[in-house]
Amino acid sequence: MHELHDERFTARGLRLWIMRDDLIHPELPGNKFRKLKYNLAAARDSGHRTLLTFGGAYSNHIRATAAAGALYGFATIGVIRGDELAGKPLNPSLAYAAERGMRLVFVDRAAYRRRAEPAFLDELRSQHGDFFAIPEGGSNPAAVRGCAELPAEIDVPYDLVAVPCGTGGTLAGIAAGLPAGKSAVGYAVLKGDFLARDVAELQRQTYGENRGDWRVDNSAHCGGYARTTHELRAFIADFDHRHDIALDEIYVGKMLHGLTRAAERGEFPPGTDIVAVKTG
Ligand SMILES: Cc1ncc(COP(=O)(O)O)c(C=O)c1O
Repeated sequence: MHELHDERFTARGLRLWIMRDDLIHPELPGNKFRKLKYNLAAARDSGHRTLLTFGGAYSNHIRATAAAGALYGFATIGVIRGDELAGKPLNPSLAYAAERGMRLVFVDRAAYRRRAEPAFLDELRSQHGDFFAIPEGGSNPAAVRGCAELPAEIDVPYDLVAVPCGTGGTLAGIAAGLPAGKSAVGYAVLKGDFLARDVAELQRQTYGENRGDWRVDNSAHCGGYARTTHELRAFIADFDHRHDIALDEIYVGKMLHGLTRAAERGEFPPGTDIVAVKTG
């Protein structure tokens, strides 16, 4: 936990900490470690030796699953969106996954859309043998339970936890693990207003009910997933200059940009202590 002295917050009576969850493990940073923890335990306990998961060509989750397989003795299969990538040189993310032993299976977008269908998983089983399936982004009830352990590790006084939100599993878990009186906000990195529904659904699948005081802020996506703006780039460069912390443009940069703008808008009452989680 690092307290950041940033006048955009202090001038409004707010305190800001950054939780360096990205430092949990060099190959399984932040929410990757938390999401995989109980998935790997379930795979092991059910006697599986192979993990199969889904992602785009730049997916952090694909990288992390490949690394986890190499570290903990599972074979791994990555089903990658985009059959046009087959046979082409691998980008650095996929090259890393392949180096860690992941078998890469490229599928077209129509097939990829079927990624959650049991019939599609059966087809994949008939082609690749049995496996323990982990959904895209790693977000399932086991992941939510892993993320729910984060609030208990916060050892500063706080009111609000801020996280980036992609598939919603991280927010679903953190919110569920909050002590009474604290809340969480997720900054959506994708365009659209579906994330609150997805977070609620993940909590229901995990606990049979909704838990915690949380909301999704849909105003900080900068045009959509992996899209950027001059303003976001300038914010990230300035943040690095002020605090010596490099933020990525896809997740944590967008979250801190959204959080800072919200602070400047006066969205948080003076006296609010905020923990921003560096999830990767
Ligand atoms: C660094 C980082 N932060 C946040 C997220 C978003 O997490 P979630 O998909 O659980 O919303 C991701 C993607 O998994 C990520 O790689």
